[in-house]
Amino acid sequence: MSENLIIKGDSKKELYENLIPQIAALIEGETDVIANMANVSACLKDTFNFWWVGFYRVLGDALVLGPFQGPLACTRISKGKGVCGTAWQQAKTVIVPDVDAFPGHIACSSLTKSEIVVPIINKGVVTAVLDIDSEKAGNFDETDKLYLEKIADLFA
Ligand code: SME
Repeated sequence: MSENLIIKGDSKKELYENLIPQIAALIEGETDVIANMANVSACLKDTFNFWWVGFYRVLGDALVLGPFQGPLACTRISKGKGVCGTAWQQAKTVIVPDVDAFPGHIACSSLTKSEIVVPIINKGVVTAVLDIDSEKAGNFDETDKLYLEKIADLFA
């Protein structure tokens, strides 16, 4: 397993296309989901310098904070609550260009301006979500959705 991440690309698309095979190789060589979530958080943070990148896992009736990179965050989120709980409930990626305009947004950091949450779906069931926050408004689009869903699929 390579322990050096190679960050290459001039556009967001190129960065994701360079990153995903490296993430796939990392995940392929390790069966522990926490270890993989930790490394994926680090890879995304290093490549894009996002404000916060991390995972919440479905444990019983809540999403529980998992591996992440960035400032401390709330530990439990109920189904249907906030952006994460909405992505869990709908089993769909949710892009929020302006967190202040999202009813019920859970503000872990006042610096977060936009957010994307991608569900990890195993055999039709959401088992975790990948949450990314940016301190820039409108930072996430269909390109992020496309590639982050590919990364989520690597966990399925
Ligand atoms: N903003 C999220 C909560 C998690 S933090 O952003 C890390 C939400 O509304 O679900």
